[in-house]
Amino acid sequence: MEIQNQPWSSRLWRRIRRPFRKAYWTIRKTREYRYLRRCGVETGWGEVHLEGWPIIQKCPGSRIILREGVTLVSRCEGNVAGVNHPVILATLTKDAVIELTGCGISGSSICAATRVQIGRHSGLGANSSIYDTDFHRIDPVERRRQRSVVEADTAPVILGEDVWVAANVLILKGVTIGDAAVVGAGSVVTRSVAPFEIVAGNPAKHVGDVRQRTERPDAAATQAPAEPIFEARRDV
Ligand SMILES: CC(C)(COP(=O)(O)OP(=O)(O)OC[C@H]1O[C@@H](n2cnc3c(N)ncnc32)[C@H](O)[C@@H]1OP(=O)(O)O)[C@@H](O)C(=O)NCCC(=O)NCCS
Repeated sequence: MEIQNQPWSSRLWRRIRRPFRKAYWTIRKTREYRYLRRCGVETGWGEVHLEGWPIIQKCPGSRIILREGVTLVSRCEGNVAGVNHPVILATLTKDAVIELTGCGISGSSICAATRVQIGRHSGLGANSSIYDTDFHRIDPVERRRQRSVVEADTAPVILGEDVWVAANVLILKGVTIGDAAVVGAGSVVTRSVAPFEIVAGNPAKHVGDVRQRTERPDAAATQAPAEPIFEARRDV
């Protein structure tokens, strides 16, 4: 933005409203921080940007950790791709951990019975879901007897850095997605995805390689940008 060339009235207006904007952001960040802390989330003041209020369901003893600028979009005005429901972060057992670092999530649900982890600069598109548990047993008799989600098959889900998960994706237990990989819209991911791989479909299959689609086909493609993560992930 060319601030230098703006007329003096515009520069004056920016200067007048600056303290009001600052006050607005301070109040907003404080409200968000207090909400998250009340829900038992481990985070610092200003480390999370909320568009709408997420649903947080935390089993006593479990951990939900949001660090280094996490954006959670929970209302449809926050993403033109269309958000059907607020972000849901749910830990289902006392040992479960959800750890999100510098990533952006739009109207998605993350349900953890063991561990779900998402790395820096990764984005989860509108209405996607990550489940690290099957919730129910396969055997019908055992399913009837089942008392808790702990009895179902579970395995951690790990997303690396710079991973892009498009809209309406379902990621199932035991999946690891490597750095800079891409998951196409509407996919169901049942197997792990290698770094730089593009997968799509149900079940998700290899459809391309990120290195063939970038001018930086080396590891530098995944280096963190210089700008703050908040700004980088506003668009998710
Ligand atoms: C991930 C994505 C960008 C990949 O695009 P791409 O690399 O240009 O993919 P291509 O069009 O070259 O397709 C390659 C192959 O994968 C298939 N494919 C691509 N996307 C697919 C999808 N979502 N589901 C199933 N198959 C898919 C294509 O049919 C094609 O198969 P073919 O070679 O047999 O013809 C794209 O699939 C996508 O999901 N776009 C929408 C992103 C989105 O949801 N954004 C909003 C929220 S963040």
